[in-house]
Amino acid sequence: MPQLAYVDGRISLLRDAHVHVEDRGLQFADAVYEVCAVLNGRLLDWPAHIARLRRNLAALFIDLALSDAALALQARRLIAANGQAEALLYIQVSRGAARRDHGFPASPRPSLIMTVRRFDFGQRIAQQARGIAIITLPDLRWRRVDMKTTGLLANVLAKQDARAAGAFEAWLVGEDGIVHEGGSTNAWIVKDGAIITHPLSASILPGIARASLIALARSAQIVVVERPFSLDEALAADEALLTSTTAPLLPVVRIDGHAIGGGTPGPVAARLAPLVWGEITRQTGWVPPAA
Ligand SMILES: Cc1ncc(COP(=O)(O)O)c(C=O)c1O
Repeated sequence: MPQLAYVDGRISLLRDAHVHVEDRGLQFADAVYEVCAVLNGRLLDWPAHIARLRRNLAALFIDLALSDAALALQARRLIAANGQAEALLYIQVSRGAARRDHGFPASPRPSLIMTVRRFDFGQRIAQQARGIAIITLPDLRWRRVDMKTTGLLANVLAKQDARAAGAFEAWLVGEDGIVHEGGSTNAWIVKDGAIITHPLSASILPGIARASLIALARSAQIVVVERPFSLDEALAADEALLTSTTAPLLPVVRIDGHAIGGGTPGPVAARLAPLVWGEITRQTGWVPPAA
């Protein structure tokens, strides 16, 4: 089935879909985005993604004249037309096309694009069983990374460094030695049975998978602590984890070559995994393949 894309109200073949060369998303990264999981043809955590998109649009003063219901309808239309049961829905809203000038155009017309790409969530089950390796890098990003904007150059370079090192992710560390988050994931450590993650602030993205894990862990009486932790603390942790829409829960077993928790996934990760996949099954009906 050919891949389709949505651009400002029209669905067309992905290869024929275009935006204007003076779109401000392209010129200035003057745009926000969301990535949502589609499992069993259904959207996971849709209300949380829409709420975050609306918050980011408001923060950038982008006025998208489309209701939540209309956006959901268009997203579902594109997912159905693409015919992929397991996929990622990408939504991007830019301030629109205008003559190149840093200040806002007088009458901006935001542009909305959406794509759907097949994605294999089942691969995460094998990675979960083995655990993954990460590297660490200085956090070179700007100071408002809580906004999910398309200005991702520092993340792109960090992820490329991770790839070159044969690692799954790069954790971005502040000048004070505090681990903020990964290039495209939130970061966690486990100490004495409690799971610890950076509190919501301007230095991390408020991940939807992060919020989901907090709620699931608390409902299972696992202690969740939202506080900064240092790289030294991470290296001495019992376990480490990462979360994101595309990797709902992965144990980190190696940081910069140092084994964490003996180098194999630990008991807290093993307790959390069925909660995470169980919630995905509850929402979408998708059942993970056996490990
Ligand atoms: C920098 C960063 N942190 C965290 C996340 C995880 O967010 P979510 O759980 O909403 O996918 C992402 C997702 O792309 C990200 O780009």
